[in-house]
Amino acid sequence: MLFNHFFPATILVLVLVASKPQPSVGWGSAGHRLVGHLADSLLSDGNATSFLQEILGNETLMDVANWADKVTKSEPWSMPLHFINVQSCSSDSCVFVPSRDCPNDMCVSGAVNNYTSRTLNRLDSTSAYDDLRFLVHFLGDIHQPLHCAKDSDKGGNTIKPVHYDVTDQGSEFSLHQIWDFGIIENVMSEEFNGDVASYGGYLLSLLQTDFEDEVEGWKCDVIGEKQCSEKWGQESVDMAMEYSYLDASGNLIHDEYTVEEEYVASSRKVIEKRLAQGGVRLANIIESIVEKQS
Ligand SMILES: *[C@@H]1O[C@H](CO)[C@@H](O)[C@H](O)[C@H]1NC(C)=O
Ligand SMILES: *[C@@H]1O[C@H](CO)[C@@H](O)[C@H](O)[C@H]1NC(C)=O
Ligand SMILES: *[C@@H]1O[C@H](CO)[C@@H](O)[C@H](O)[C@H]1NC(C)=O
Repeated sequence: MLFNHFFPATILVLVLVASKPQPSVGWGSAGHRLVGHLADSLLSDGNATSFLQEILGNETLMDVANWADKVTKSEPWSMPLHFINVQSCSSDSCVFVPSRDCPNDMCVSGAVNNYTSRTLNRLDSTSAYDDLRFLVHFLGDIHQPLHCAKDSDKGGNTIKPVHYDVTDQGSEFSLHQIWDFGIIENVMSEEFNGDVASYGGYLLSLLQTDFEDEVEGWKCDVIGEKQCSEKWGQESVDMAMEYSYLDASGNLIHDEYTVEEEYVASSRKVIEKRLAQGGVRLANIIESIVEKQS
């Protein structure tokens, strides 16, 4: 499948890199760094520290969180691993069927399992670095609702233009991009000085407040098996159907939609919860791997 929903984001990255001084793009950039940063922080005083150092040297999970997006050109086989396109959705029902939507495990839920098991088993120690860099990234992607959404619009990539001013990056995007980076970039620049660590610190604080009662339930107790990652993919599908695809009045979003304030407010809540879940689950996977190996 040549045209998948990851493709336009890649083109945008190239255009922006060529034309803007220092754009940051994507759950492709800030979102992935936030997930990495949360996991780095959650793991900072446990036995995972030396495990991470052994594989990453002086880099952090945050530092390596975007590598997987940079290799989609040289490693085109990895492209389908960034998302799930659900083949058959009606207006009110969209169910991820792995046998249909994730053939040979070549989708983001399959990739989360694959790189979890590879990291656990260190199948080939020369690839441990790549395996972990893939793992961080895919934990991010599986939590972006529009990375696990309708095939018919390529996860919101074909819904465009959507009108929304994003700090330093323009005002016309696809719906997919609003969720990949638009809302995140605006919140980060308006409230956190454009700084990933500050925004990350705020998300960490939510784990002790808004999300306190839920955090334990987010963790997976069957690391490396399909139950968890397939469930996380379906969670994204459900959130995409309930929030991403519907405007503030509950109508399906079409081309030429102008993003409303209420839409930003409700989407932001979902995005922050998904970033937090990504960070918590990544840290939990790594902790479990370290436990099993010791
Ligand atoms: C770290 O590992 C040591 C030795 O394997 C163990 O005794 C200790 O409980 C571990 N600490 C944590 C926080 O898991
Ligand atoms: C990390 O280590 C590499 C070589 O091992 C070195 O070139 C680089 O400057 C170091 N980076 C930081 C941020 O310390
Ligand atoms: C699993 O990882 C290997 C090594 O990167 C890769 O060749 C394979 O395509 C991956 N499969 C999935 C489902 O992620």
